[in-house]
Amino acid sequence: MSGEATSGSREPPGPQSSPRSLPDFIEKKLEACEAETFSPRKNGKPLVLGNRAPGPGSVILQSNDYLNISKHPEITRAQIELLENAGRELVMSAVFLHEGSDKSLFEKSMADFTGFQSSILCQSGWAANVGLMQVIADEKTPVYIDFFTHMSLWEGIKASGATPYAFRHNDPGHLERLVRENGSGVVLVDSLYSTTGDIAPLTDIIDVAERYGCASVVDESHSLGTHGLHGSGLVSELGLTHRVHFITASLAKAFAGRAGIIISSSRFARYYPYLAFPAIFSSALLPHEIAGLRATLKVIREGDDRRAQLHEKARFLREGFEQLGYNIVSDSQIIAIESGLESDTEVFRDALEERDVFGSVFLTPATPKNRSLMRFSLHSGLSWEELEYVLKVCGEIRDEVGMWEWKSTKRGGAKKLA
Ligand SMILES: Cc1ncc(COP(=O)(O)O)c(C=O)c1O
Repeated sequence: MSGEATSGSREPPGPQSSPRSLPDFIEKKLEACEAETFSPRKNGKPLVLGNRAPGPGSVILQSNDYLNISKHPEITRAQIELLENAGRELVMSAVFLHEGSDKSLFEKSMADFTGFQSSILCQSGWAANVGLMQVIADEKTPVYIDFFTHMSLWEGIKASGATPYAFRHNDPGHLERLVRENGSGVVLVDSLYSTTGDIAPLTDIIDVAERYGCASVVDESHSLGTHGLHGSGLVSELGLTHRVHFITASLAKAFAGRAGIIISSSRFARYYPYLAFPAIFSSALLPHEIAGLRATLKVIREGDDRRAQLHEKARFLREGFEQLGYNIVSDSQIIAIESGLESDTEVFRDALEERDVFGSVFLTPATPKNRSLMRFSLHSGLSWEELEYVLKVCGEIRDEVGMWEWKSTKRGGAKKLA
């Protein structure tokens, strides 16, 4: 027997020297990704990565922690206290949690914060959107979705089996024509678009949804915490609280956590956990994460100064870019510069990186083909010197990156002065 492995006593195998090959149909997908994502680039890396990571002294305009609170001591302390002092954390699906759990207390405070009856804490913004759509739509439901709405809502439509009808970006007239032709259904929009930073004409869109008896879903991932009274969001700011059926949000943006939320009526929240697959078949957040979110909500409510700083700095940068001739469609802390062709975006990214300025490259499938862009996302803690430096750099590199020839520049009508 010596040297022979017997069942129950087998050593785990070491690292594979030649792993078993994958079937052809998978290999083909990997090869296509290599050809489309890695090979076309000079450095052999995906366009989003650039040549190096930012270091000390870099100007980093990449974070969604808009209020600059991820290292806030009250939030960290709340999580540590719970980890050190609470009993055993149960690792399970949220359907087993009773009334009065930390989760339900947080859900109540998020409902109060936004002026709704209830809310449902989810594992991520993605889970919130997919779960909600799976519950409220089915094969017979027409779903009207703004063309630029976040991918998680598109995936939610797939999960529900419903038919999507995409309307032109921020065009309530086109939405109305589609609803008239196809009947009442669900209307999906983002309040503030994550790639371009522009804000939806929410009042007009909700007018259409109401007129035709549609359910409305507004994804507030990029406006909850940053907009509205004490950060309560755009739906609240625009007085639409009693007219919108559902708000969803990622809590990985201004809330700087790792969660999502659906904000709804209490009647809906009662049934959701027993209908939505992400709620039934995926485990709940851990108590220390919820303790962190509770502390975060307090910091956000008290964060009027941070919000004012954020909006002031965003306005400064938007106006500066416009004066330089860049075509900016943003109304917010997300500012996109559309360099268009991927090859042009590569040149733009490198010119910024060489000067230690880091934004995030967005390209297809996050944007339409050949409309790739550099997204700058701001936070309230950026210094004025950093913002002035970004404008100086973007002014200097306009010729080098071919900015005057970009389609977006021509659409914006800016011309280089001789
Ligand atoms: C508008 C929008 N909705 C939903 C999500 C998904 O959120 P999460 O990262 O929490 O899954 C994102 C994240 O990029 C987003 O920008």
